[in-house]
Amino acid sequence: MKQLTAEQIQENWYKLRDFITESFEGERLEKLNEMYDYFEDRMVMAPASGKEHFHNAHVGGYVEHVMHVTDLAVKLRRVWEQEGAAIDFTEEEVIFAALHHDLGKVGDLENDYYIPQESEWHRKNQGAIFTHNPKLQYMTVTDRAIFLLSHFGVKYSEKEYIGLRLTDGLYEEGNKSYYMSYNKDWSLKSNIAYVLHQADLLATRVEYDVWNRSQTEEQEATMAKVSSLKKALTVDDSEKKPQQSEQLTKKSQDLFDELFGDKK
Ligand SMILES: [Fe+2]
Repeated sequence: MKQLTAEQIQENWYKLRDFITESFEGERLEKLNEMYDYFEDRMVMAPASGKEHFHNAHVGGYVEHVMHVTDLAVKLRRVWEQEGAAIDFTEEEVIFAALHHDLGKVGDLENDYYIPQESEWHRKNQGAIFTHNPKLQYMTVTDRAIFLLSHFGVKYSEKEYIGLRLTDGLYEEGNKSYYMSYNKDWSLKSNIAYVLHQADLLATRVEYDVWNRSQTEEQEATMAKVSSLKKALTVDDSEKKPQQSEQLTKKSQDLFDELFGDKK
């Protein structure tokens, strides 16, 4: 499982706060800072998902994910522009929507959205590192994001709303009428939602791949250690001289300690 150090978590938080200061101004910045101050203790620790095979299901994963999506959304906006797409939304609008598309994952005003999964069975068999907090009123993550922004008096443009609201693309059933309209007048008038959805999808897949690769590397390292332990333990007894036997025992013990030492 991916784990960030306390320093990395803190560094990501400061990066996010500095980025907000650079990206917004006036009353909106003031309100955003109030909201981020309010949630600081919880947001800094929040994961981006509950299951390790989803994405960023680790402490500090939320901040890492929203910064990742924001970075990609800004890049993708340029790609769309270079390819000739109509860009009728500003970089600030993309940044605002990307930064807040998952805000509901921080929880409500009092409680975290994700709490640690206590059940060892669920952790082991389902990769569930966190679970949903039963204290919360049911709301989609997006609805809660909009509720929280409104609660703190943060204003947003219609395009920011559409971008944030539709970031999950067609993975969210409720978005179908926006993306799949047979009425020409009702089709999306701006590309902001597509840019946001692509950025979120790309970030999520990359985060999954990084996790998946680390799992494979971890497994391969364990297998290599196990096979070297087996090898050390299967030397023909008849060939052993007393001194060799002592050396072998020491070698096996070292390998055993290396493999299982931290489980004491
Ligand atoms: Fe996301």
